[in-house]
Amino acid sequence: MPVSEPLPTNPELEQALDSLPAGYWDFASVDTKEWTHGYHAYPAMMIPQVARSLIGLVQERYPDIRSLFDPFMGSGTSLVEGLLAGLAVAGSDLNPLSRLLARAKTTAWQPDALGGTADTLMNTVRRVPADERDWPDFKNLTFWFKPAVIHDLVRIKRAIQEIVPDTQKPFFWVVFSDTVRWVSNSRNAEFKLYRLDARRLEAWNPDTLKVFAKILDRNLRGNALFYGQRPRTAADIRAFDARQLGFRDEYFDLMVTSPPYGDSRTTVAYGQFSRLSLEWLDLAEPVDPLPRHLDRAMLGGNPQERSVRALNSPVLRQALDVIGDQDPARAREVLTFYEDLDRSLAELARVLRAGGFQCWVVGNRTVKGVQLLTDQIIMELSEPYGLVPQAAFSRAIPSKRMPKENSPTNETGKKARTMNGEQIFILRKQSL
Ligand SMILES: C[S@@+](CC[C@H](N)C(=O)[O-])C[C@H]1O[C@@H](n2cnc3c(N)ncnc32)[C@H](O)[C@@H]1O
Repeated sequence: MPVSEPLPTNPELEQALDSLPAGYWDFASVDTKEWTHGYHAYPAMMIPQVARSLIGLVQERYPDIRSLFDPFMGSGTSLVEGLLAGLAVAGSDLNPLSRLLARAKTTAWQPDALGGTADTLMNTVRRVPADERDWPDFKNLTFWFKPAVIHDLVRIKRAIQEIVPDTQKPFFWVVFSDTVRWVSNSRNAEFKLYRLDARRLEAWNPDTLKVFAKILDRNLRGNALFYGQRPRTAADIRAFDARQLGFRDEYFDLMVTSPPYGDSRTTVAYGQFSRLSLEWLDLAEPVDPLPRHLDRAMLGGNPQERSVRALNSPVLRQALDVIGDQDPARAREVLTFYEDLDRSLAELARVLRAGGFQCWVVGNRTVKGVQLLTDQIIMELSEPYGLVPQAAFSRAIPSKRMPKENSPTNETGKKARTMNGEQIFILRKQSL
């Protein structure tokens, strides 16, 4: 498959990028858990320093940039960095857990007030009664949690409901949610829901209150550090589907995002990752879609849906031809993802002001031995929407909890261009 490098068309950005030392974007030994970034695990998180550097790169040369939007915000990494850069930030995501995390991570609570609530909560938790009648009612509860763990989770949940003021609840629900993940019978090192094997399950007796107290302490420290930075404003957090954004035209100056790699079934199952937390949480907003329907609602989740529009991407067409020769149904699934992505790209162009920038951090996955060059595909698909490539480069992923891609391209003897790496590129909306 021919790999055509996009021509850089923004000499200023290119020059700035060229002046950076080799390996700059790898961020091999940085602390990725600074400020509120370490609150809670989330699959395929962006490295904060990548978001920070991209924002800085554009902001330094275009100081009229005031607002940032992330349409696939996940845990809210780019939003936190946007706030610290003094921007007004907005983000959206279909996953209710993402919205909770982003809300908590972008809020700076007065540390003493939060600490006071935490002390009262910990003093109360042990006294809260709990018996089987209080257990939450969801499928496979006892498959995923041991009875002693369920009792303690019920205690913590009730204490949060009763003691924590509504304005502070997002902070404590995040601590609770990370606790749920750690004390469940699932294999914690993985983002898909797998139960511990019989031998490990038998020995599994986590001290739920201790785990909660430890996570609480860690996150209180994160909040205090973030608060000390005096971040500018609260974030505007939305539940929009990226294919249909409820913002007016030309609303944002800058977008910084990392989209899903593909559909949830064959790549990262955000719904599965979030399910146990969402079953336990008592969120102010309705959990919609339901946890078990979440993966189908995401990009590429419904291959039955057919688009009538032909996609403007020769790179995608070539890849689909090769996949389709081996497995037409798989090619159809892959196409569904890119059709959904294309709908999102039209929306993202619409809400960006003319002259505004989009920064993309993208992973290129491999299907049936064919590497899908999502970076190039997005650039091609975005062209009819008035987006022009400004700069493109790649970064190595020193260690990231993701399935590592290790497959060659479909060309004999040719190694994949981007094994275990991420593509970063910047687009600019044409001024009219
Ligand atoms: C790669 S993750 C983003 C991770 C994020 N950058 C972070 O640092 O945590 C992609 C996100 O896209 C979301 N997503 C998938 N399909 C979506 C859609 N149609 N509309 C909005 N969000 C969607 C998923 O829920 C997931 O949170």
